[in-house]
Amino acid sequence: MKVAEQAGYDAWLGRRALTDKDQVSSLTDWASRIIAEESDECIRTAAYELTETITAWTGRRPDNAVPADGGGCLRIGTFQGCSEVASAFSEVEMSAVQADGFRLRRAGQSIIIAGSTGRGVLYGAFALLRLIKTGERLNELDELSNPANGLRLINEWDNVDGSIERGYAGRSIFYAEGEVVPDLSRVRDYARLLASVGINGIVVNNVNVHREETLFLSERYLPRIADMANVFRAYGIRLYLSINFAAPIEMGGLATADPLEEAVRTWWKDRVKEVYKWIPDFGGFLVKADSEFRPGPFTYGRDHADGANMLAEALAPYGGIVVWRCFVYNCKQDWRDRKTDRARAAYDHFTPLDGRFRDNVVLQVKNGPMDFQVREPVSPLFGAMPHTNMLIEFQVTQEYTGQQRHLCYLVPQWKEALDFDTHARGEGSTIKKVADGSLFGRPLGGFAAVSNVGDDANWTGHPLAQANLYGYGRLAWNPELAADRIAEEWIKQTFGDHDRVIKTLLAMLMSSWSLYESYTSPLGVGWMVKPNHHYGPDVDGYEYSMWGTYHFADCYGIGVDRSVRTGTGYASQYHRPHSERFESAETTPDELLLFFHHVPYTHRLHSGKTVIQHIYDSHFEGVKGSEALAEQWEGLKGLIDHDIFEQGRSRLQEQIEHAKEWRDVINTYFWRKSGIADEHGRTIY
Ligand code: GCU
Repeated sequence: MKVAEQAGYDAWLGRRALTDKDQVSSLTDWASRIIAEESDECIRTAAYELTETITAWTGRRPDNAVPADGGGCLRIGTFQGCSEVASAFSEVEMSAVQADGFRLRRAGQSIIIAGSTGRGVLYGAFALLRLIKTGERLNELDELSNPANGLRLINEWDNVDGSIERGYAGRSIFYAEGEVVPDLSRVRDYARLLASVGINGIVVNNVNVHREETLFLSERYLPRIADMANVFRAYGIRLYLSINFAAPIEMGGLATADPLEEAVRTWWKDRVKEVYKWIPDFGGFLVKADSEFRPGPFTYGRDHADGANMLAEALAPYGGIVVWRCFVYNCKQDWRDRKTDRARAAYDHFTPLDGRFRDNVVLQVKNGPMDFQVREPVSPLFGAMPHTNMLIEFQVTQEYTGQQRHLCYLVPQWKEALDFDTHARGEGSTIKKVADGSLFGRPLGGFAAVSNVGDDANWTGHPLAQANLYGYGRLAWNPELAADRIAEEWIKQTFGDHDRVIKTLLAMLMSSWSLYESYTSPLGVGWMVKPNHHYGPDVDGYEYSMWGTYHFADCYGIGVDRSVRTGTGYASQYHRPHSERFESAETTPDELLLFFHHVPYTHRLHSGKTVIQHIYDSHFEGVKGSEALAEQWEGLKGLIDHDIFEQGRSRLQEQIEHAKEWRDVINTYFWRKSGIADEHGRTIY
């Protein structure tokens, strides 16, 4: 069977015939004619998507004849380009639609999808399909939707040899054996998925740019990358590239990559010109520099602003941007040094540069100060650089959250970060307002995330991991959406409207993040993973955790002291009241206690339990919770696709086995280390 015909490939855009007769007959009323008069590429795509989907749902192919008899139709277009569309709205209503936004309206027997740009119309088309699929009544349809964030980016960590860094769903869909794949149809199907949730930019190569991908900026690769850009453009998505800061040396043959050196600046300008020759709407560069051994401006005694601004200057004439990552830290920390703190690094490096970045530079900041752990506080950089554009970066691929073998629906975690009130401008200064640019009045802002797809037929390996990709896009569009609402939307579109299926999957998804947390690393301490691949428990295993620098567990206690009074001082990087709250173990929330404080195993949590008791109990509960997940899934037998059922079943079995391993490794370690509890978790002091 072809991949595209296998279970899960359609994801949430499935085109199975609708079974609800009323719904079909109402659709054939107005959707038997689809009128799209403009030649804009996104509008053509919108018309195509609507036509194909409605044909498959109803069994009747809509035509494009303008109704002469006053009958209904589905009319799509922009206010400027289509007078029939414009006439359905007042001036005020039209001016409320921003670029990328749309309006949906019932007008008599017709439905109108309107935007101020073709891209907005395309998003409107997908929104309408979503409303139908989730069973919304359209009689009174009148909806205005604008994205909260200008930049809604997805980052692929794919390499041109076809491997994916931190990929857990097969090989790359973009590259194989050193080339862009000859057949881009799967890339196109991915573009559909992304556009359907509002993603408008894609970085098509790994942030770690190796020797071969450095040449993406040359004619060796640009023609095929331009082919990919064409595929994405039809879906309103701009293509970006990760670049190697040392490219002038490695590819250009220069002796230096010093950003202040004229020859280097000219080299980049020439490269950028070449890229735009091939890809006229190229989005820009993503840069990981001076981080995890990647080259950067530090080599030349320059700083991040010098590096970013040089590239920004080259891109500015074409409307391109530089996305500069803040994931910068010293990998080799000495375990005797309890003051150097990786959590501090991004803030310490970047806040002194506030105000120095050009307007077409945006800093990409991971949601937490460390690295996508199951539990971290938010990065204090949000709210600390009022004169700088910022994107929040999430990790959809589940590197530290179960690698798509365990179920972990991450939207609740992301919501928590976005809703965090930084207090940078007093109460209400939430991270979502920093990210969208509104808090500090910044011209650029938004979301970025590392994708979780590969060439597995169902895209994400674990069939339920699709919910994270879907949820990321929906949140980037509207961070106000609730995590359960997003999950429910996804379930209905993917699995249909069977009540038991919806309730079961919703409960499974919504409990999964805290469940994963419960049997992995406790109370915010993080990192207790096997080295390099980061899958599975190993308390001292993480490759940069020399002699336990990431948790400082000894026979007396555990946790990292990040207070100002006795620790690394990290707590002071937050605005008040958080800096004060995190300063003391008494006021730090339980789930972050060990992130901020080193405490004895007998320290009593707000929950009433001691730390050691909590560690034991939660690891036992985690195994029970995993068994419960598998049981819930069993209840779906016969109600969902057989192949998907089997895929989920085997992953959930693995989750149980693996949760047991986590439980046993972590609990045994702390039983031995602390010497104050028995192997069943009973405190015996
Ligand atoms: C993590 C991950 C790396 C990745 C890095 C990054 O450390 O393990 O594979 O390169 O994040 O975000 O740059």
